[in-house]
Amino acid sequence: MSSVAQHHEHTPTHARPIAARTVGLSKTYGKGDAQVVALDDVSVDFEQGRFTAVMGPSGSGKSTLMHCAAALDRADRGQVFIGEQEITGLKDKALTRLRRDRIGFIFQAFNLVPTLSAKENILLPLAIAGRKPDQAWYDTVISTTGLGDRLRHRPSELSGGQQQRVACARALVSRPEIIFADEPTGNLDSRSGAEVLDFLQRSVEEFGQTIVMVTHDPMAASHTHRAVFLADGQIRDDLADPTADSVLDRMRSLDTRAA
Ligand SMILES: Nc1ncnc2c1ncn2[C@@H]1O[C@H](COP(=O)(O)OP(=O)(O)OP(=O)(O)O)[C@@H](O)[C@H]1O
Ligand SMILES: [Mg+2]
Repeated sequence: MSSVAQHHEHTPTHARPIAARTVGLSKTYGKGDAQVVALDDVSVDFEQGRFTAVMGPSGSGKSTLMHCAAALDRADRGQVFIGEQEITGLKDKALTRLRRDRIGFIFQAFNLVPTLSAKENILLPLAIAGRKPDQAWYDTVISTTGLGDRLRHRPSELSGGQQQRVACARALVSRPEIIFADEPTGNLDSRSGAEVLDFLQRSVEEFGQTIVMVTHDPMAASHTHRAVFLADGQIRDDLADPTADSVLDRMRSLDTRAA
């Protein structure tokens, strides 16, 4: 390994620019007795070029945090930044443009357009934005996904893992500043899940993509650089270089503290 690469690896994480940040983010659903605090004063930074897992029990606020950070939903209080830009006060039109130009999404339910081929699905966001794909980058994404011989197929003719790799390619092809993935392996068997995780990890390690991924799976979290744990809408733990074992450990200790 070159000294430059070594230096890079040992750069303290706080030296990296921030891809997305929330400050004091709070969100409540419902009223009166039915009131649910989904996010309770959440401040978190996601650094550029890092793969972060967001974990925590069902209902702990993971999806709400992702949706607010990704400008798909608005919080009641607090701020959201994408890069240097505060997006909290932006109007809907500006938010739509921001999502289109700077943010990628991968959902648990692949959300592909059934009548379009894999290739058309991958290129759809760029087509909507009126942008042409960078051919070299498109070729790299396709060869990394291993979907080369499946590009003319419709989603219904693809396996779950292949469909999710199409969704990953769709998120990557516009080179967004940050990709938010909400349980991208949640609907996949372990082998397809591993393929998708491998692909996401390579896009971070080899292409410098920034990814924030919600997952329940300690194995999935072990592919990332960092695991952030939510419980009851609050950040409770923050683990560097997670392994399946260290993640399981934290999950157990969070359960004990909640009991
Ligand atoms: N549209 C909504 N209306 C009312 N309550 C909601 C709504 N969306 C989420 N909630 C509540 O907010 C809390 C946080 O939900 P959220 O979907 O963020 O949890 P999560 O951590 O993603 O859970 P899971 O692991 O099950 O996906 C939950 O108690 C949920 O019931
Ligand atoms: Mg969720």
